[in-house]
Amino acid sequence: MKTYFGVISGQMQETSKEKICSTESVNRQGSLDSSKEDDNATLVLIFTLCNVKKTELSKAARVFELLQMFETEVHHFETRRIKKLKNSADDFDVFVECEVHSADISHLITSLKRITEDVKIGKEEKVLWFPRKIQDLDKCHHLITTYEPSFDHGHPGYSDLEYRKRRAYFADLAYNYRVGDPLPNIEYTAQETATWREVYRKLRSLYPTHACTQYLDAFQQLEKYCGYQEDNIPQLQDVSRFLKETTGFQLRPAAGLLSARDFLASLAFRVFQCTQYIRHFSSPTHSPEPDCCHELLGHVPMLANKEFAQFSQDIGLASLGSSEAEIEKLSTLYWFTVEFGLCKQNGSIKAYGAGLLSSYGELMYALSNEPEYKPFDPEVTAVHPYQDQAFQPVYFIAENFEDAKAKLQNYAMKIKKPFSLCYDPFTSSIEVLDTPQKVKREVSRLKEDLKNLCLSLDNLS
Ligand SMILES: [Fe+2]
Repeated sequence: MKTYFGVISGQMQETSKEKICSTESVNRQGSLDSSKEDDNATLVLIFTLCNVKKTELSKAARVFELLQMFETEVHHFETRRIKKLKNSADDFDVFVECEVHSADISHLITSLKRITEDVKIGKEEKVLWFPRKIQDLDKCHHLITTYEPSFDHGHPGYSDLEYRKRRAYFADLAYNYRVGDPLPNIEYTAQETATWREVYRKLRSLYPTHACTQYLDAFQQLEKYCGYQEDNIPQLQDVSRFLKETTGFQLRPAAGLLSARDFLASLAFRVFQCTQYIRHFSSPTHSPEPDCCHELLGHVPMLANKEFAQFSQDIGLASLGSSEAEIEKLSTLYWFTVEFGLCKQNGSIKAYGAGLLSSYGELMYALSNEPEYKPFDPEVTAVHPYQDQAFQPVYFIAENFEDAKAKLQNYAMKIKKPFSLCYDPFTSSIEVLDTPQKVKREVSRLKEDLKNLCLSLDNLS
């Protein structure tokens, strides 16, 4: 059966090859009509460069570097001295018109905002680019490099050149991966396996008392069929095959922490972007970024549960074509559920969030009655401040996954988008319902499904 999402509210806009225009930080743009789909978009940017002649000359150079890095084709570049009183004689307005891949627009603008001021991108809101078929996920691997060992001085592996070299190897595997390729097989070193062993042993001892039953059931299966053992780091290929058979989820290698937009988009296709490297051996109990301990012990068991898999896909579907503000809310929802969620079970509270189930210290803390607990309510949860440097001060408790899923679907229906869409599992693609004919076709398919289900019910009774 297909998964439907969104509401129909007005005509689709044809945006291919039109200028990006938005009063807010609209980031990606593209045509929603697949027959007119064009991966490039023309982008008009206006921003300010301050103190160009004095201290900030390097910023001007970095703008050019950025344009080059994102492989833009610059059509027009113009600078103009700002004549406002508050500005110095060395402040310039810059106008750029360029062609850029639609999937890169969001990241180009975010990067530009870091080095320039007052970035503007036009006036009229257009439909944002999002992956329409599973192959498009090859374009969704933009990294957030905050906690990278090569850039972050505080990273445990920063001064270990051997570790950084190893990480570069994993990053290359992920960047070179394309949809349909076999997942890379890794020969983990003795040191890496020792780190895994330490994490695995400690966490496994806590699971029977702290993890929800869905997690425990799946974990047992993973130990039986996917090489989950303390002396073996499971291979993504085996785990992905297992997930595909249980819930239709599959893994693809990720080079590190991805942008929220790219990460959530992949969930819409039941694809989980999964890191394959392991944390630095000097810090087995803590990792500032996702690693295979977090993915394999935290996320994978829950993705083997049908209800939870649907919940995860629903967040992904809601994210497609959403504004930056909505993406922020959805990633906060994801944070307090998929990463740090708790649920009621047989009269007690259990953990289902991956951030908890892969952290011995926080798993103990979250169920210690010390933190504050609130009922899961998407409207409240989506705007609640979160903590990524310490334990969460608040955890949200779901009644059960069925309830959480229904609440999330209601929340997602309220996200304003000029289109609705549905996921086609037969082709692993997103269909935008932009004509009455398409909607009617889906309705008649639904009727068929419903008829078959009613017939099955009759047969059973
Ligand atoms: Fe995670």
